[in-house]
Amino acid sequence: MQVTTVNKLAQYVGEVVSIRGWLYNRRSKGKLHFLLIRDGTGIVQGVMFQDDVSQNLFTQCAHLPQESSLIATGKVHQDPRAPGGYELALKDVEILQLAGEYPLGKKSHGSDFLLKNRHLWLRSKKQHAHLKIRSEVVRAIRHFFDSHDFVLIDTPILTSSACEETSGLFEVNYFDRRAYLSQSGQLYAEAAAMAFGRVYCFGPTFRAEKSKTRKHLTEFWMVEPEIAYANLDDIMELAEELVANLVEEVLEKRKEELKILERDTKMLEKITLPFPRLSYAQAVEIIRDSKVSFEWGEDFGAPHEAIISSHFERPVLIHRFPAESKAFYMKKDPQDPHLALCVDMLASEGYGEIIGGGQREDDLETLEKSISEYKLTREDFEWYLDLRRYGSVPHAGFGLGLERTVAWLCGTHHVREVIPFPRTLYRIYP
Ligand code: 4AD
Ligand code: MG
Repeated sequence: MQVTTVNKLAQYVGEVVSIRGWLYNRRSKGKLHFLLIRDGTGIVQGVMFQDDVSQNLFTQCAHLPQESSLIATGKVHQDPRAPGGYELALKDVEILQLAGEYPLGKKSHGSDFLLKNRHLWLRSKKQHAHLKIRSEVVRAIRHFFDSHDFVLIDTPILTSSACEETSGLFEVNYFDRRAYLSQSGQLYAEAAAMAFGRVYCFGPTFRAEKSKTRKHLTEFWMVEPEIAYANLDDIMELAEELVANLVEEVLEKRKEELKILERDTKMLEKITLPFPRLSYAQAVEIIRDSKVSFEWGEDFGAPHEAIISSHFERPVLIHRFPAESKAFYMKKDPQDPHLALCVDMLASEGYGEIIGGGQREDDLETLEKSISEYKLTREDFEWYLDLRRYGSVPHAGFGLGLERTVAWLCGTHHVREVIPFPRTLYRIYP
């Protein structure tokens, strides 16, 4: 018997094949059962005619519980009315397990219930679509960097020091000392850039953030390119090229999933290069013009980001934030040392920051001073300072948050739906 998958049925019209999957839904009409079978690649309707199967099987299928596992065998018919365009005229169904009463039945459920049942919720159409798009974005990111001469360098998850704010560190016992879960691979990527020129790391990062917003996870994925002999302008260009490419790839390769999510893609289709660029000072002006008060030096909150984004149809790059609000490793703007040579990218349609990055301080003494001003433990950074002792060069990079990017592309409100098992302030189960 030819075993295949739902997405390949077109190759088997007129032939008898087996599909291995789960019962998604069913209905009956007289001598017919219509079994919707999902196998992870798609959903196909199996039509069971009473006279084609044993009486026993026909009776059993009248009550077959949702999510029962089964191997369905039948002849493939092309039928434009069927979901997916093909149908199986069932000859046999082997039932592997009769499922219990499925907790995520047809009723609608609250988000808390769904998140507690995330291990099952993954099977539903929208969640399935989110994660297929996520998978596509990851593939496109890797392809983008691999085809732009970057070397993939995996940075450690267990680290000895902070990269971003120390208040956001998760501590772990590391034998007789303390270690931290990585907040960003950047510092290690900088070391790698001095060895390989152009590198990227891509992995999970952790922030013990007490923020309970739709954009914060305690565990999220970040891709971080880092380039030797690059400056702020170079990485702004790279960032917009990457993001435009991700938009294009998803629009082209994941049409079906975007449709399932009812994503209105008009705005995404308008995204072309270059993206608008604003200085922090210009962004503050836009906020104040909209009659919202804003303290100079603050980072933008979600409402501020929304105001700025609403002025543009494309993502925007905001550069040169006040240095004091930014991390210790940022290079100061030689034109105005109160400003850092950094950049944030805000996604369009009010989705907020998806990228943060900039040019790194490459002068040994300035960096030493900064480490002490930020009250960081100097010994932890000796290796990092070595990069400025032995062949220091201007260099820059950025980090793109995967979940925020995927949520934006999917048009999904909350980042927790675009990661398989979200970790947030109050959630670490399942
Ligand atoms: O702006 P961030 O903190 O920058 C860095 O970590 C730099 N060291 C990156 C670099 O230059 N190599 O974080 C980068 C991005 C943000 O723009 C956002 O998209 C995402 O990471 N991010 C989060 N995503 C989900 N939940 C959180 N708690 C996040 N914090 C940051
Ligand atoms: Mg940031």
